Amino acid sequence: MDKSFDIIVFGATSFVGQILCQYLQDTFNSEGQEQINWAIAGRSESKLNDVKKTINNPGLKVLLADASDESALTTLCEQAKVIISTVGPYALYGEPLVKACVKTGTDYCDLTGEVQWIKRMVDKYEDQAKASGARIVHCSGFDSIPSDMGVYFLQQNAMQEFGAYCNNIKMRVKAAKGGASGGTIASMVNITKEAVADPALRKQLANPYLICPADSGFKARQFNTNKPTMDPDFNAWTAPFVMAAINTRIVFRSNALAGNPYGADFKYDEAMLVGRDFKGRMMATMVVAGLGLFLVGAAMKPTRWFLEKFVLPKPGEGPSPHAQKTGYYDLRFVGKTASGKEIRTKVVGQGDPGYGSTSRLLGQVGACLALDLHEGQDKTGKQGGFWTTSTIFGDKLIERLQKHAQLEFEVLKD
Ligand SMILES: NC(=O)c1ccc[n+]([C@@H]2O[C@H](COP(=O)([O-])OP(=O)(O)OC[C@H]3O[C@@H](n4cnc5c(N)ncnc54)[C@H](OP(=O)(O)O)[C@@H]3O)[C@@H](O)[C@H]2O)c1
Repeated sequence: MDKSFDIIVFGATSFVGQILCQYLQDTFNSEGQEQINWAIAGRSESKLNDVKKTINNPGLKVLLADASDESALTTLCEQAKVIISTVGPYALYGEPLVKACVKTGTDYCDLTGEVQWIKRMVDKYEDQAKASGARIVHCSGFDSIPSDMGVYFLQQNAMQEFGAYCNNIKMRVKAAKGGASGGTIASMVNITKEAVADPALRKQLANPYLICPADSGFKARQFNTNKPTMDPDFNAWTAPFVMAAINTRIVFRSNALAGNPYGADFKYDEAMLVGRDFKGRMMATMVVAGLGLFLVGAAMKPTRWFLEKFVLPKPGEGPSPHAQKTGYYDLRFVGKTASGKEIRTKVVGQGDPGYGSTSRLLGQVGACLALDLHEGQDKTGKQGGFWTTSTIFGDKLIERLQKHAQLEFEVLKD
C-alpha cells in the first residue's frame, strides 16, 4: 500500500482541528525540525482551503470524506500511516473511521472522552485491530494524557525509589484556567442525553473498570468525589473533577493492559482542590451545585434546548486565541506503596487545557505513532489493538511532551 502521508488530520476544520493544524505547521518541516508529510481532510473543500490559507501552507494536500462514507474513509486510510481525528461527538460520527482504520491496518488517534463509545469500539473491533495491525489510541488530549502519563511517571519514579509500585494514587487539580468549545459541550450533552434514555448505560458509566478486559480481575472499590470532601493528604477541600469519569477509566485500562503491575487492589481517584477552611468548603459546595445544575439542564429537553441555543458555545466556537495561550493546568499526584512509602509528583501544562495544550498533545501522539513506532522501529513490539497512551508510548511520549508540548513532569521533594 502506498502510504503517501505520515499523518492525515480528519476534521481539520473543527475548532480544535484548526489549532492542531497551526501547531503541526509551526512544529514540523522547517530546518532543524522533524519532517512529517501531512495532509488535511474533512467534508467541506472550501472550509479546508480556508484552513490552508490561515496556516499559510498553500501546498498542503486537501482530501475529502464525509464521516459516514465508509468507502471514502477507506481511501483516506489507504494513504496514511496515521489518521488523527477531531470529528466529534465521536459517539455520533466516529465509528465508520475506526472501522476503516481497523480494516486497513492504519494507526489512529483522537480526542474522545466518551467512555461508552470507547467500550463499544473495543468490543466490536479489538480482534480485527490485532489482526490488521492498526494501533488505536483514544483519549489523546487533556483527557486523558496528563492523568495517564502522570500516573505512569509517578509509578516509574516510585519503582526507582522504593523498588515497588504504589497501590494507591490520587490526582488533584491544584489550578487550571481554560474554556470549552462547542464540540466538547456537544459531546457532554450527548452522553447525558444517552444516559438519561438508557438505564443500562448509566450502570456502565458507573463501572470504573468498564474498559478493562473482562479477565483483568479488578474488584477494588474505587473512591469517587461527588460531594465536598476534606482531603487530609492535601489539607484542603475537594470538589468533583468533571474529567475524572474518563481519566480514571483510562488509568485502570492502562494497568490492565500492562499486565496489572500496580496490583489488583490498585486505587486511583481524581478531584479538584478548592481551598482550605470555610471558604474552601463553600467553594466545593458551589462546584457540586453547579455541576448538578448543568447535568439536570442537559438531561431535560426544554432546558437542553435553551442551554444549546442561548448559553453554551456552538460547534466551531471556543476559547479566544488569548485564552488558549494564557491558559494552564497544575496537577498534583500523591502515591503510596502497600508498605506506606509516599511519593509526590506534578504535571504542569502551558496553554488552555482543552485546546492550546490538547492540540499539542494530540499532535505529538500522532508524531509518536508515525515517526517513533513505525516500520523498522518499534512497530513489531507494539502490535495492533486498542492502546492507552502510557502503554503504547511510555517514556517516548514523556520525552516528546516535555520537549515539544510545554508539559513538565516533576518529582516533588518535600
Ligand atoms: N479530550 C480533550 O481534551 C478534548 C479537547 C477538545 C475537544 N475535544 C473533542 O474533540 C471533538 C471536536 O471538538 P471541537 O469543539 O473542535 O468540534 P467542532 O468545532 O464542533 O467541529 C466538529 C468537526 O466535525 C466535523 N464534522 C461533523 N460532521 C461531519 C461529517 N458528517 N463528516 C465530516 N466531518 C464532520 C466538522 O466539519 P465541518 O467544519 O465541515 O462542519 C468539524 O470539523 C469533540 O468531540 C470534543 O469533545 C476533546
